[in-house]
Amino acid sequence: MKAALLLSRAARAVVFTGAGVSAESGLATFRGAGGLWEGHRVEEVATPEAFARDPLLVWRFYAMRREQAKKAEPNPAHKAIAQLERLFPSLVVVTQNVDGLHQRAGSQRVLELHGSLWRIRCASCGRELGDDRVPLPELPPRCDACGGWQRPAVVWFGEPLPEAIFREAERACTEADVMLVVGTSGVVWPAAGLVEVAAACGAAIIEVNPEPSALAYLAAVQIPKKAGEALPALVERLEEVQGARA
Ligand code: OAD
Repeated sequence: MKAALLLSRAARAVVFTGAGVSAESGLATFRGAGGLWEGHRVEEVATPEAFARDPLLVWRFYAMRREQAKKAEPNPAHKAIAQLERLFPSLVVVTQNVDGLHQRAGSQRVLELHGSLWRIRCASCGRELGDDRVPLPELPPRCDACGGWQRPAVVWFGEPLPEAIFREAERACTEADVMLVVGTSGVVWPAAGLVEVAAACGAAIIEVNPEPSALAYLAAVQIPKKAGEALPALVERLEEVQGARA
């Protein structure tokens, strides 16, 4: 398998993930039939304007996602990515997901480009805390410090990505020899631009997606399978290749 050979020759690797990596945990992706954006207008649930207009409606959407994510379990793809970290101690997972499943699978270095469902920030005073209570005692939740409305600490459309995290992700991409791009449509920027950065800096791109994404043109190898099938097989093959060399 060419992907395993590329990985076996690499010193540094980045795994870049999107909603598709959590699909086999039962969490809906965003685009396409049955996608999260099919039932919701983005402008009604995922913009700062929507929150200013109707914080309860926005919170109902995020309360539903928190409930689903809490019930979900990491799948074999998340677990294989966590296993890869043993083979690449420098491995960085750069994710657009907010569900926390990479961390629950055991990945240690996870850069969350779009924030987390499990953090809440006061829209008035900016105080941010971890909060994994499901359900929350009141919606919208209120800040203990100032009494203002709290919001999910996720990135909404029209908002910038957390700068320090984006810079760290960019640095990992410039240094990577291989980048696995898993379960993303690759249409949301600036996140998708990180794959271009990695490719431009010499990383071999391996795409794992049943459908070619908008980033497929950058891929040296495409694995047209579900992540939960492809990634455990890839890690197993990599361990064989490395074992044969030892
Ligand atoms: P999308 O819903 O745009 O794309 C999901 C991708 O996963 C598609 O390319 C599917 O083909 C693929 N896919 C589905 N099942 C899969 C499986 N079992 N294994 C592997 N791949 C599978 O989701 P994202 O690319 O994550 O941003 O979307 C990017 C951003 O757009 C999200 O972070 C979110 C959204 O709007 C914000 O909310 C800021």
